[in-house]
Amino acid sequence: MPSEKSVYPPHPSIARSAHISSFAQYQEMYKRSIERPDEFWGEIAKQFYWETPIDPDNFFKYNFDITKGPIFTKWLDGARTNISYNVLDMNVKRGHGDKVAFYWEGNHPDDYSRLTYKKLLEEVCRCANVLKSKGVQKGDRVAVYMPMILEAVITLLACTRIGAVHSLVFAGFSADNFAERIMDCGARVLVTADGAWRGEKLLQLKVICDQAMVKCAQKGYNIESCIVVSHLGRVMSPMGTHYNANKTPMQEGRDIYWHEIIPEASPSCYPEWVEAEDPMFMLYTSGSTGKPKGVVHTTGGYLLYAATTFKYVFDYKPNDVYWCTADIGWITGHTYVVYGPLANAATSIVYEGTPFYPENDRFWAVIDKYKVNQFYTAPTAIRALMKFGEDLVKKHDLSTLRVLGSVGEPINPEAWLWYYKYVGHEKCSIVDTFWQTETGGHVLTPLPGATPMKPGAASFPFFGVQAVLLDEAGKEIKGEGEGYLVFPQPWPSLMRTLYNDHDRYETTYFTKFPGYYCTGDGAKRDADGYLWVTGRVDDMLNVSGHLMSTAEVESVLTEHPSISEAAVVAKSHPVKGECLYCFVTTNEHGEFDEKLQKELRQLVRERIAPFAMPDVIQNAPGLPKTRSGKIMRRILRKIAAGDRDIGDTSTLADPAVVQQLFATRPITA
Ligand code: PRX
Repeated sequence: MPSEKSVYPPHPSIARSAHISSFAQYQEMYKRSIERPDEFWGEIAKQFYWETPIDPDNFFKYNFDITKGPIFTKWLDGARTNISYNVLDMNVKRGHGDKVAFYWEGNHPDDYSRLTYKKLLEEVCRCANVLKSKGVQKGDRVAVYMPMILEAVITLLACTRIGAVHSLVFAGFSADNFAERIMDCGARVLVTADGAWRGEKLLQLKVICDQAMVKCAQKGYNIESCIVVSHLGRVMSPMGTHYNANKTPMQEGRDIYWHEIIPEASPSCYPEWVEAEDPMFMLYTSGSTGKPKGVVHTTGGYLLYAATTFKYVFDYKPNDVYWCTADIGWITGHTYVVYGPLANAATSIVYEGTPFYPENDRFWAVIDKYKVNQFYTAPTAIRALMKFGEDLVKKHDLSTLRVLGSVGEPINPEAWLWYYKYVGHEKCSIVDTFWQTETGGHVLTPLPGATPMKPGAASFPFFGVQAVLLDEAGKEIKGEGEGYLVFPQPWPSLMRTLYNDHDRYETTYFTKFPGYYCTGDGAKRDADGYLWVTGRVDDMLNVSGHLMSTAEVESVLTEHPSISEAAVVAKSHPVKGECLYCFVTTNEHGEFDEKLQKELRQLVRERIAPFAMPDVIQNAPGLPKTRSGKIMRRILRKIAAGDRDIGDTSTLADPAVVQQLFATRPITA
């Protein structure tokens, strides 16, 4: 197994042709990006269209120190632009109109299509005109709940074309969750599809939207228009037949099919010029108090950063074919399926299905089919695919690959090595990209032609990003050491606020260490200066790359009438990275049995999402608490791991509780 000391230099064939072809070149550019951000980003900004020019005096302003006043970040304030104009019209003007923007690969291998830049622009304009006709204006939020189909991309770009703020919710979240987010962002228009197949599973998306809209209506909140893509009827089901689209219930006056309204609309739509600092989109992420946070990104800085990271981190060249497997409902889908690639006039793939359908070699088959050059996926997918062995990989020609990306959680060296050896045939560069919904784009990452790779290290900061490690007292750890990963100054795509809750933004990210944006992750720096992200330092857990808060799951568990108290911790899992281990205390009405466990799992599934379902539920007549009543999660994590080395227990109110929990730990745990 590779160790911290193992170093894999970029393959000469990759380095030779890369945009950044040596570590010295990275260092030189990095230095300039930190010392002269206006000059560095100013040159990049010139590659885009600004309706009102950039004012050098307003290039970049921020305050990260809460003791000195409100926290804010502004880039290119006052300059006006439109992101859809930049990534579509400008590309068409530059002669890329007939270039394929997206290949769409359906769940069923017989379903596929493509969209050129010119056609994409037309479709976006049609959709933008329809949104306008539904009353959507600049600044309004539009809720989107879509599978991985090209209409999802079209909808996002249509929103930005008219200055509306898109608020996508991953189409795996439950109706409850979706309803909460619709009401929080105040959307009146919803865009969805009747459903989609993921492998052999049918997702009835419109049914979930209907349930969500009912829940909204119960609270007196109404969605006025719901546009529905009729998708199921046009694709092959796993049974080889077409689904009967008429099964989807439509509410007269509110619901309308995409195909009945969009094709009729005009294919041109003058863009709404927006301020660089106008909100562009929002995306919910889990918060450690349970209530999701609506992360807000603005236009100008996001455009610059998405474009620049995409170009350098994936070493994208004009004739490459790039594929990011992330769902569009996550930030990775926003920045690296939609905006980053389009800002580089790239050709990419949108894939609807799973890695396992129809066979466990589908990813490799798709790479082979489209001759993919850059492939970007999550460690959980790699670990799941490793199980099926390398013979399935070897069946396909993957020789076009140059860059392999990893995102969402730390990649373990074993998975890294497998990815490197069998998918990357020991030639590709692996970019282990660390970032967050909040950061908008990659913040720590190797660069393909420049950074000697260490398996599992996110390595070095991207241009414009200064990474600092702090100890508990807020003192900077220089050189080797481990601490809180924080950033002392913004880069262009750092989120600007939490929707309707700037106070929470300040408290969550800027109060622990005044003067720094706090990621909530820990990291260590090795003797060679490489950064290794060690995971969350707050009560968040990461299941298959999905971030969620323990508080969120605990509050759902305690909704059950038989449960009086619940505590949730992360336990390591061979494929998912982490899984949920729940301790529940029943009340006088409750009996801890199979039935209760089933009900609790179902409740989490309904209230949050299937991916949040607990792996282990343990009966906990008592929970380890301090004398002041605080649950000692540190000890619960040890119990979940079966590790009896629990350290100092002097603050425990009742040490017997711990022994009892160890003794009754389920055998399946
Ligand atoms: O804990 C880090 C982990 O995922 C968190 C961010 O999750 P989310 O906002 O959902 O965005 C995921 C996709 C960007 C981080 O706080 N994380 C993400 N990438 C890595 C990672 N941990 C280690 N290494 C990574 N490459």
